[in-house]
Amino acid sequence: MITVRVPAKVNVQLGVGGLRPDGFHDLANVFFAVALGDLVTARQGEGVTLTCEGPGSDQVPLDDSNLAARAAYALAAHHGIEANVALHIEKAIPVAGGMAGGSADGAAALVACDALWKLDTPAEVLHELAAELGSDVPFALLGGVALGRGRGEILTPLPVEGTFHWVFAVADGGLSTPAVFRECDRLRAEAGTGFTEEEVTTPDADPALLAALADGDPTALAGALANDLQAAAVSLRPSLAATLRTGTEAGALAALVSGSGPTTAFLAKDAEAAEGIARALRDSGTCRAAHVTHGPVPGAAVTA
Ligand code: C5P
Repeated sequence: MITVRVPAKVNVQLGVGGLRPDGFHDLANVFFAVALGDLVTARQGEGVTLTCEGPGSDQVPLDDSNLAARAAYALAAHHGIEANVALHIEKAIPVAGGMAGGSADGAAALVACDALWKLDTPAEVLHELAAELGSDVPFALLGGVALGRGRGEILTPLPVEGTFHWVFAVADGGLSTPAVFRECDRLRAEAGTGFTEEEVTTPDADPALLAALADGDPTALAGALANDLQAAAVSLRPSLAATLRTGTEAGALAALVSGSGPTTAFLAKDAEAAEGIARALRDSGTCRAAHVTHGPVPGAAVTA
């Protein structure tokens, strides 16, 4: 049996460019891997089977549409072998929460099947297979902190110093990523700025944000956090405004929606402050759960 641990991500910058003809948006996306993560185990099986446990696991599809199952098929097809594996996911990453949980499971399944089937697939090939599975899957393989260009799959690792402390507030229910991108386009059209590639220039990574990461400076990072999908996520889920306010009032250096939401992220000055923010969020009734975690951490890897 092979067990793989895989991190969730938060986007410390999510700069969204215009809508491309292929339906994706060009991004300037700074991914940050946090210790909150899923465990994916792979055992010999017949065909591809999938089981899942943990919070929200009843929302996780267990058929061939799951990115973990699709990863197993893609890896087997690449090597021209039959896909035989029993995959099990222990979920800790909020489901449909804007933390790339499904993508993380896809990345973990690639690594787990590669080890189970003793394939020794080169990292570049795993990256290519990951990029075909979804925009956020390559980063879940890589971990750490990285700039994602294109639709998020063209990755450059970024230098980062020390550990940052985070709290994540889990909302009731999920948000659909395509729906949030569509709402972002709709809000841009309504504001008169337009939303197509011709009308919206793709942003660049913010130099102040990159410096804050390289310096390990949480206060500077707090000042530079930015998510172009936040207004769209709050528009679709107005109750997130109260969650964001609660974390800020409890002393978070900054509060933002994680990716396409509805999970919200709070940067804390240290581990103790993070515990206080999590307590305030739990007591407020503005979220379903609050998790203290830290990062950056490595990408999907077999546990010893
Ligand atoms: O790549 P992934 O399957 O995770 O993307 C899900 C959906 O999110 C896409 O079909 C698209 O609607 C939206 N998306 C986007 N621009 C990106 C990434 C995702 O519009 N860069």
